Amino acid sequence: MSDINIIPIFDQSAPSVWHSFAHIRAVASYPDHDIDSLADKENTLVNKMSTDWQNKRGCKYAFGAYDGDDMVGFILGYAAARYGCVDSLFVLPQYHGNRTGTRLLSWAETALSLVATSVELISLANAMGFYEAHGYKSYSHTNHYIKSLNTNIRCSFIPVFQVSASLNRHCLEINPNFDKFAVNREHQPMFVHFDDKSCVDGYIGAGTTVPCLRGNGNSSYVKNILQNMFNSYVR
Ligand SMILES: CC(C)(COP(=O)(O)OP(=O)(O)OC[C@H]1O[C@@H](n2cnc3c(N)ncnc32)[C@H](O)[C@@H]1OP(=O)(O)O)[C@@H](O)C(=O)NCCC(=O)NCCS
Repeated sequence: MSDINIIPIFDQSAPSVWHSFAHIRAVASYPDHDIDSLADKENTLVNKMSTDWQNKRGCKYAFGAYDGDDMVGFILGYAAARYGCVDSLFVLPQYHGNRTGTRLLSWAETALSLVATSVELISLANAMGFYEAHGYKSYSHTNHYIKSLNTNIRCSFIPVFQVSASLNRHCLEINPNFDKFAVNREHQPMFVHFDDKSCVDGYIGAGTTVPCLRGNGNSSYVKNILQNMFNSYVR
């Protein structure tokens, strides 16, 4: 098995994304079903996922796990009013146990920490141990789990699915022409870097294809990583 790449999916309405989600979810949920009955379930799931995405406002995030060009796992969810959630996390059975689920969950938590203080989810019965191992606590022994997020972000590169008021202020300081609607309405890709004082010192995307850096912009480390993240996203 080759290396698995975790890639943010900023625009879930891009071609084939929901079909990949639905296929993985159907296969992971019903490993013993035949291809025809899985195809029915996939079509129903595509309709449900696309409708959910179109109807939701706020931060709508997703990450895909890719083996080459093939999506083999994904996580998606939302955040509103400082509450984040994981709606779906699925990995194809043949890829289980390789830390793909862990990496997807970790990327989702990192992205959510820009806009939310906690993350909640409803676990399937067989995944409760997985979430408990990742710090989630159950409400009164139910399958409803919650975890607090570390919102004191330092020295991190993070994909942005929604520009909050404070991130908007930081980015406008860097570039007075920064346009949050490129992300919040048009779902354009964006990556941001927080320095060791939790200050945004650079970003890329949201209409720009080169890094915008604070001050004299001489941090080649931040510049190179932002550019690499952006280049590897635009596949
Ligand atoms: C749950 C799921 C996403 C985990 O993905 P994965 O890539 O196999 O998980 P990882 O390899 O990252 O597992 C990391 C750790 O969690 C453990 N783990 C994984 N699934 C577990 C489970 N169901 N119960 C308890 N522990 C579990 C692994 O043993 C591993 O432990 P280790 O680090 O001590 O070795 C995957 O099993 C899956 O898609 N399951 C079917 C769908 C599902 O239940 N999704 C959750 C919907 S809420």
